Amino acid sequence: MHKKIVFKNLPKHLAVIMDGNGRWAKNRNLERIEGHIQGIMALKRLLKSTMEFGIKYVTAFAFSSENWQRSKKEVDALMNLLEKYIKLELPNLIRNKICLKVIGNIEKLPVSTKKILQDATYQTSRFNDFFLTLALSYGSREEILSAAIHIAEDFKKGIIKNKNVIQEGFFASYLYGGDIPNPDFLIRTSGEKRVSNFMLWQIAYTEIYFTKTLWPDFGRKHLITALKNYETRVRRFGKAEI
Ligand code: IPE
Ligand code: IPE
Ligand code: MG
Repeated sequence: MHKKIVFKNLPKHLAVIMDGNGRWAKNRNLERIEGHIQGIMALKRLLKSTMEFGIKYVTAFAFSSENWQRSKKEVDALMNLLEKYIKLELPNLIRNKICLKVIGNIEKLPVSTKKILQDATYQTSRFNDFFLTLALSYGSREEILSAAIHIAEDFKKGIIKNKNVIQEGFFASYLYGGDIPNPDFLIRTSGEKRVSNFMLWQIAYTEIYFTKTLWPDFGRKHLITALKNYETRVRRFGKAEI
C-alpha cells in the first residue's frame, strides 16, 4: 500500500500522448513491439494510480490516423496486442466499474479488433465511476472535418433547421468524444514537444506537460511529479487576475 497523497487540485480529465515505446525498445536492442507491450503495462499502471487519486476521466492516445503509415508488421502487431489486452483486461474494467470508450475512425480497424472493442464498450457502458477513452485510428483534423460534414448533412436533411443553433457546444457534440468533458491536463512523454493531431478542439484551454521519460518507463512517481506541476498552474481562461 502507498502512503495517501493529497493534491490541492486534480485534473478531472487527464489525457496522455503515450510516446516513446519504439525508442525504449531500441535502447535495449529489442523489437519495437516489445516497447508497445511495456507501453500497455504503463497504461495499466497509470489507471491504477488515477483511480487511487480519484481522477475520473483518462484519455490515452494509442494509435493515430497517421500511424497507419507504419510498417505492416508493426501495425498488425499493434492490432493483435490491442485485441489480446482488451479481452484480457475486460474483467478488470468491469470489476473497477470503468466505462471504456473509443474515439477515432474505427471503421479503419480490422473487423476482429472492431468487434472486440464494440463488445468491451458495450459491456462497460453502464459504468460511470471512471471513464477510459482510447484514441485509436484517431486524428483530430479528421474528427473536426467529419463533424462539419455531419452538420452539413443534418442541415440539408432538415434535422438542423436554424443555423443559429450551431454554437460551440452543439459543434462539440458532433465530435467523437461527445459527452466527455475537455481534458484539464495533457501529458506527453518522450521529449517531443508537439500535439501530433491530438484533440485539437478539446485542448484549447488544457494545461500541457512535457516529460523526457519514455512512455514504458512512466510510473506512479512520474505521474505524481506531473500532477504536482499541475497544482501550480493558474488557469485564467482569458480572464485577468484581480
Ligand atoms: C508511441 O510510441 C506508440 C504509438 C505511436 C503506437 P512510438 O511507437 O511512437 O515510439 P517512438 O516515438 O518511435 O519512440
Ligand atoms: C503520437 O505519437 C501518436 C501516439 C502516441 C499514439 P507519434 O509517435 O505517432 O507522433 P510523431 O510522429 O512523433 O509526431
Ligand atoms: Mg512516437
